[in-house]
Amino acid sequence: MDTPRYWGVIPAAGQGTRMGAGRPKQYLELAGRRVLEHTLERLAADPRIAGIVVALGPDDADWGRLAIPAGVEVRTVTGGAERCHSVLNALESLGGRAAPTDWVLVHDAARPCLRPADLSRLLDTLADDPVGGLLALPVRDTMKRAGTGDRVEATVDRAGLWHALTPQMFRLRALREALGKAIAAGVLVTDEAAAMEWAGHRPRLVVGAGDNLKITRPEDLPLAEYYLARQFQG
Ligand code: C5P
Repeated sequence: MDTPRYWGVIPAAGQGTRMGAGRPKQYLELAGRRVLEHTLERLAADPRIAGIVVALGPDDADWGRLAIPAGVEVRTVTGGAERCHSVLNALESLGGRAAPTDWVLVHDAARPCLRPADLSRLLDTLADDPVGGLLALPVRDTMKRAGTGDRVEATVDRAGLWHALTPQMFRLRALREALGKAIAAGVLVTDEAAAMEWAGHRPRLVVGAGDNLKITRPEDLPLAEYYLARQFQG
């Protein structure tokens, strides 16, 4: 079998309504550049990434103004109604170029602080894994399950609970089949690992840094700017 290659997929077709900004969060300004420019550069940082597919919203008016990293081929596709549809569209567009057993790394457009060291550790750790996996972070707060009226119904044992981050890394054919079947069954999975779990696999959790935050609320932007500045200081 040929040595598998690695492809990046960035779902960037969301509107990010929780930000309350005039434009989707992947196009907000962060440290003098757009969020998505940082994200692209971070995912392209590992020379093993052979190419990147970015899923854009049908009315995207900002992509054409971005600076694309040199040295890696970046293509775009039109995204879908939910994140899972956007990712599936990107995987289908990879079909002609990538082998079924090639690895795909799906990384949120809104996670611009991915550390290059975490990316390369994910690739190294999962290179021979039969399933694949994801960067993740053990939960540290005590977890509550809410009942009616925002009253605590139960305290959930946090042992064994993790935050799912991205990139999430799976084989192209396995992920495409899992996502396609989950969507066809009406299961709108919120990440790739959930599709693989639904298909009966057990993705591996690889500990990642907590500064790989997903920009979701307005207060996340200054926090991401702080994290980026600190990372550059080493
Ligand atoms: O909204 P949320 O933060 O969960 O979105 C995660 C990622 O999925 C973002 O990068 C967003 O642009 C992307 N997305 C997408 N297509 C959608 C919805 C979200 O590519 N229909």
